[in-house]
Amino acid sequence: MMKEINFGLQGYRLLQAPNMTLVQMMSYIIHPPSGPVVVIDGGNTGDADYLRDEIMKRGGEVEAWIITHCHDDHYAALIEIMNNPGGVKINRIYYNFPPQEWINQTEPVYKVQTGKIFDLLHTYTDICTVVCEGDVIEPAGLKIEFLHDPAKVCNLIDPSTNNGYAVNDTSLVFRIAFPNEKTALFLGDLGPYAGDMLAERYGKKLKSDIVQMAHHGQNGVNKNVYEYVQPEICLWSAPMWLYDNDLGRGFNTAKYKTVIVRGWMEELGVKVHVVEGEGPAIIY
Ligand SMILES: [Fe+2]
Repeated sequence: MMKEINFGLQGYRLLQAPNMTLVQMMSYIIHPPSGPVVVIDGGNTGDADYLRDEIMKRGGEVEAWIITHCHDDHYAALIEIMNNPGGVKINRIYYNFPPQEWINQTEPVYKVQTGKIFDLLHTYTDICTVVCEGDVIEPAGLKIEFLHDPAKVCNLIDPSTNNGYAVNDTSLVFRIAFPNEKTALFLGDLGPYAGDMLAERYGKKLKSDIVQMAHHGQNGVNKNVYEYVQPEICLWSAPMWLYDNDLGRGFNTAKYKTVIVRGWMEELGVKVHVVEGEGPAIIY
């Protein structure tokens, strides 16, 4: 069943897609009152069929597809849809990845997957744009401002010592302003290190009405970022096992920090939580 939340977006609709496999992922569609949509990430390969259907229900044309960072629980559905579009037309892809060699050094186990997305982006350079901190794009009547890009951290992190977390810190961070000035901050999988940099750089300027909880709601940015954001709505791109920190032994019995982060948001007085694992949800 579709969860619907009236937040006064004046004809705009933000869909948080549910995970179609057991694995965590991140996938959003923003649908303006008319015309093509905006997609953020898209999820795993197993999430592609759902996403393609939802894009087709909205006319099939994607004006802007933003990939937050180079991890396959974010970009694999895009590869699947590019290879099997089924009517979907993508006008432009926005991303910013560190050099492929840098990623391979920090995440050698994902070398094959990483190669696939780099190959795809190289094949479709005519529709790809690399975005940087300070850039603003305006698809579908939205204003999207980029606040963080890989250049901020790549030179500061030694990829050979970082066990893969480095790529999370290269996530694009961006704030979407709807025409009525309601805002949604997307943090991708940003981790504590880059999160602290973000808090220091922007402070209270991070204030936003909606926030996508960093790194699927746990082990992402520190509480200081959320204190600056002061959101009214939290978007949790987490399946229920991750949201409840439960790998089969009951609530809060696994190793994830989601329940701690849920506590932070309770302290901040957030009343509306939209959880990927609960099924599709629309904020409108
Ligand atoms: Fe992720």
